[in-house]
Amino acid sequence: MPRMPIRALEFFSGIGGLHYGLERADPTATVLASFDMNQNANACYHANFGFKPSTTSIDTLSLQAVERFGANCWLLSPPCQPFTQGGKRLDHEDKRSLALLHLIDLLGQISAPPDFVFLENVPNFEVSVCRSRLVECLDARNYDIREFLVSPVQIGVANDRRRYYLCARRRSADAPKSDTPYLQAPRVITTMLSDPVKTFSQPGSDSDGRDTEPAWKPTPPQISSYLQPLEDVSPHLVPQEYILKRKSFRFDLVKPTDRISSCFTKAYGSHHVIGSGSFLQTERLDVRVLAFNIVLRRSPLTGVAAQVEFAVDDGPSVVAARPRFFRPTEVARLHGFPIDGPPRGDPRLHAMAFPDSLSVAQQLKLLGNSLSVDVVAHLLSGLLAANAD
Ligand SMILES: C[S@@+](CC[C@H](N)C(=O)[O-])C[C@H]1O[C@@H](n2cnc3c(N)ncnc32)[C@H](O)[C@@H]1O
Repeated sequence: MPRMPIRALEFFSGIGGLHYGLERADPTATVLASFDMNQNANACYHANFGFKPSTTSIDTLSLQAVERFGANCWLLSPPCQPFTQGGKRLDHEDKRSLALLHLIDLLGQISAPPDFVFLENVPNFEVSVCRSRLVECLDARNYDIREFLVSPVQIGVANDRRRYYLCARRRSADAPKSDTPYLQAPRVITTMLSDPVKTFSQPGSDSDGRDTEPAWKPTPPQISSYLQPLEDVSPHLVPQEYILKRKSFRFDLVKPTDRISSCFTKAYGSHHVIGSGSFLQTERLDVRVLAFNIVLRRSPLTGVAAQVEFAVDDGPSVVAARPRFFRPTEVARLHGFPIDGPPRGDPRLHAMAFPDSLSVAQQLKLLGNSLSVDVVAHLLSGLLAANAD
């Protein structure tokens, strides 16, 4: 069967993480339009893709306006605050869920539903009312669905960013309806990644909900391969007062030779330094910065709690290690954004750069809100492979 060209709509586009992931999965794909209300994100998007996302609030889009695009693929990365662990978890009752709920409504009514739907969100989304509404709508409209809770470290990236992903593809009208275990419970969610082409062809879990896919665990490169050489690290050091005013430290200090960094959130680079992402040790590289308490970190690769990563209660040792913030280009690289030019040198693909108008703090905030382009590309390759069936 001839392959249908992918014509996508990108909702909640931010700095275009889903766009980059899509074109890496399918260089012939086109994004027809993007939607986001954040002016800084849109400035970055425009600078890289050459067109401006619509600033119309997604919850006010009419059915006719969406139908007019004739898109066969919807990409969504709605706000995560209604579902985050630290938040109030108001789920469908949070006004930030309105836009997603509206899109679910539109999907229920649209005369020509997209062949593919892809969504990214935080862990906890899988147990939300929003997720149930989305899955029920997709089921009613004849989609097969696969859901994942996975991290880029599982595909050989030196960053841990565990996220929820939903891949849905529409069955042809005459195809038999498959089992719909996803309607009963989220326990069928796949937590392992295999070769992309197996994304849809292999069952993710057995009847007890255990993952059955073979674990595919390439070793990430050292963090040094993501770093930008700096003439002077001083302007980028974590201020001493941030370190010394804490009684107990929960900084994630990593060395250039490490192979894992922690999840960068939108608070990274602000004064909320704890738990928002890793800091890079620039001195005393021959030793791990240790103090009285040793915190063991569970390796997402091996599941083994083995690495000593944190310094606790010893501010002077942390200061002596001169931890610095990761630079926006480094975080972008860890997230898989094509900061070094189009992937594979393919002229059909876009590169990524931040416009000069955005401060470092704004860049880091946008990156913290974004996603792993690597995981998106991996999963979309599998989802869209169904297009060639
Ligand atoms: C989790 S971020 C998505 C980030 C994006 N995937 C990226 O790669 O940068 C959610 C985005 O949704 C946008 N947003 C939230 N509510 C919106 C609405 N009602 N209409 C349009 N955009 C909205 C926010 O401005 C934010 O950029």
